[in-house]
Amino acid sequence: MKIIDLGNSLGNSKIINSVFKPAGANMESRLRHWLYPPLVTLQDADIQSGQTVLEVGCGPGFFTIPAATLVGDKGHIIAMDVSSSFIKRVSNKVEAANLHNVQVLKRNALDTGLDTASIDTVIIFGVLPFPLLPLNQLLPEMHRVLKPDGTLSVWLWSIPFFVPWSIPRSGLFSFINKQRRVYNYRSFDGELENYYPSI
Ligand SMILES: C[S@@+](CC[C@H](N)C(=O)[O-])C[C@H]1O[C@@H](n2cnc3c(N)ncnc32)[C@H](O)[C@@H]1O
Repeated sequence: MKIIDLGNSLGNSKIINSVFKPAGANMESRLRHWLYPPLVTLQDADIQSGQTVLEVGCGPGFFTIPAATLVGDKGHIIAMDVSSSFIKRVSNKVEAANLHNVQVLKRNALDTGLDTASIDTVIIFGVLPFPLLPLNQLLPEMHRVLKPDGTLSVWLWSIPFFVPWSIPRSGLFSFINKQRRVYNYRSFDGELENYYPSI
């Protein structure tokens, strides 16, 4: 079974979604808000008013609502997750907050179905490394949807493992900076004919 099909099946699985429920409560805990205020993390990714932002693996939406306030009425957040229960939860939050600049999409980030060069910033916060998101499949898709010179921002938990170095090694992104736990990369705007992933 391909990894993308596995992700889609697990995202629809009742058992997996029932396990995600308590995990989601932890992801939204007061302690987490206190330790890692979402607005501060989003500012470390340099999210600007008016931008179109793709949030990969939005989970219960810890970052989604603050991100919507940062991009404002002229901006747009696409909150994406493979899990049906998280998608429902975030949709309810968006509706309760009466937000019109958030689109909640149940999709696999390995094949987003989004238009090419349509996104200013991709944020992948608290997700990587994740077995259902192999970088050699995820990064080409993120590069495709990002505008030339778009930004990929990755917030990593305490141990970054191989992720920070694997991203520029793909040849698709160059490292811009690291702000606290957020690693920022610029999408490579060159000819990709000779692209051979080394990850
Ligand atoms: C650890 S949670 C993080 C949630 C959120 N970003 C946060 O920090 O609170 C990882 C999320 O990635 C989602 N995910 C995993 N694989 C995915 C895929 N292939 N496409 C989209 N979402 C995926 C999971 O369903 C889960 O909601």
